[in-house]
Amino acid sequence: MASHQLDVYQNEKGLPKEALAIFETLEVSEEQQRDIMRILNESMNKGLCPETHDEAAVKMLPSYVRSLPNGTEKGTYMSLDMGGSNFRVLLAELTDKGLKVQVDRYHLPEEILSGTADMFFGYIADNIELFMKNHCPDGTFDELPLGFTFSFPSDQHSLNSADLNLWTKGFAVKGVVGKDVVRLLQDALDKKNIKVRTVAIINDTVAALIAGAYYNNNCHIGLIIGTGINAAYMEQLSNVGTWKGDHNEPRQVVINIEMGGFGDDGVIEFVRTEIDYDLDSRTVNKGNQLVEKMISGKYLGEVARIILVKLTRLGVAFGGKLPKGLEEDWIFATSFISEIVGGDTEDKQPNSRRILQSLGADDPSPADCRLLHAICARVTQRSAMLAASLVGGLLYRLKKPLTGIAVEGSMYKGFPAFRERMTEKIAELSPDYKAEFTLVEDGPGKGSAVLAAVVARMDLDNQ
Ligand code: BGC
Repeated sequence: MASHQLDVYQNEKGLPKEALAIFETLEVSEEQQRDIMRILNESMNKGLCPETHDEAAVKMLPSYVRSLPNGTEKGTYMSLDMGGSNFRVLLAELTDKGLKVQVDRYHLPEEILSGTADMFFGYIADNIELFMKNHCPDGTFDELPLGFTFSFPSDQHSLNSADLNLWTKGFAVKGVVGKDVVRLLQDALDKKNIKVRTVAIINDTVAALIAGAYYNNNCHIGLIIGTGINAAYMEQLSNVGTWKGDHNEPRQVVINIEMGGFGDDGVIEFVRTEIDYDLDSRTVNKGNQLVEKMISGKYLGEVARIILVKLTRLGVAFGGKLPKGLEEDWIFATSFISEIVGGDTEDKQPNSRRILQSLGADDPSPADCRLLHAICARVTQRSAMLAASLVGGLLYRLKKPLTGIAVEGSMYKGFPAFRERMTEKIAELSPDYKAEFTLVEDGPGKGSAVLAAVVARMDLDNQ
């Protein structure tokens, strides 16, 4: 039996040579991984330096979060977690006994994702109103403070204002880039007379770090590997040349790395392939988030589909005739990859078969099922290798014997083969600076509620 779900077809017996040629291009050697670790560090320095920041691919955005929670925060706070095709609204109660949350999830339909700013924020406000009807009986609260987790690259000007730089992960709402998203949200809430005040905005990685620190004070990195990939960590102000705030104690600030943009300046071309160029050309943000497009859940399914389509055109899959269902861009979900890698083996591929049938291949041959399984394993393997290099690079930068990492996201949570391969590889790449991963369920939502509580505590301290 294979030692790991991703090690199937080690000798690749019986796979077409055209597939093996593509697989070879997807390999990332240990030497390349170490290069990535080193280059990531250089890219991070460029993002922090005022002279190079504008053209830097890794933006290193200061969050205005200067201290992490100390567990004494109390009260009831709301949070809005917006960053994928679903958003969450949370009501968090912080007491001596810890954190209790009520969470509802809402879907963002395609027409809202590509509609106008008014439609988008109006839709969110409607759902916050609905949430309050269900969870906050009339008269319970005068005005609820809300922490807004907004998981897109944004320039912050204070703890509660941030201008969107660019949409990622397939979002294309018009009229938001360059605008303060806190203002847009607050106006939409005020228009409907909803008694909620947005007191802080943070990235999901910053929120994960805050939530992780609330439970464990050895937590130094917040990491998201889901629809997108990114991380945040605490940096000394003396290293943040772009910092525009005060230099009072504590002389530190949490940095949202915006790691998904790594490579947008050409530094990872040595691992990009024809498949990646093809994928990029099908996205709404061409030329941006290049490493994210090789790793995260928004894209992996499409990477696999592109390979399958290419092999069909070469005549070595489906007898040269692509099943109807596979013709559509983005139809092949990353969750299919996870089901296939998790359930199929070298001898039997029931999941590949079922998924191909659902996509219009009536009777896929055993060879086609094996091929799809092998593609999914290879695409996952590469994603895990690249993610490990990015996290390994961060561990080297922090240089702590043990770094606590608070992590969330569907790729980490719901894709065990990916998670295991990535964490194994991190341990190999960074033997001296170890990582301890803690999954913070709903960390992005909880973190901004805790931050709202920190803001309230600071306001009280300043009175
Ligand atoms: C966004 C980041 C976010 C990450 C994970 C990326 O596409 O640019 O801001 O943290 O996805 O959600």
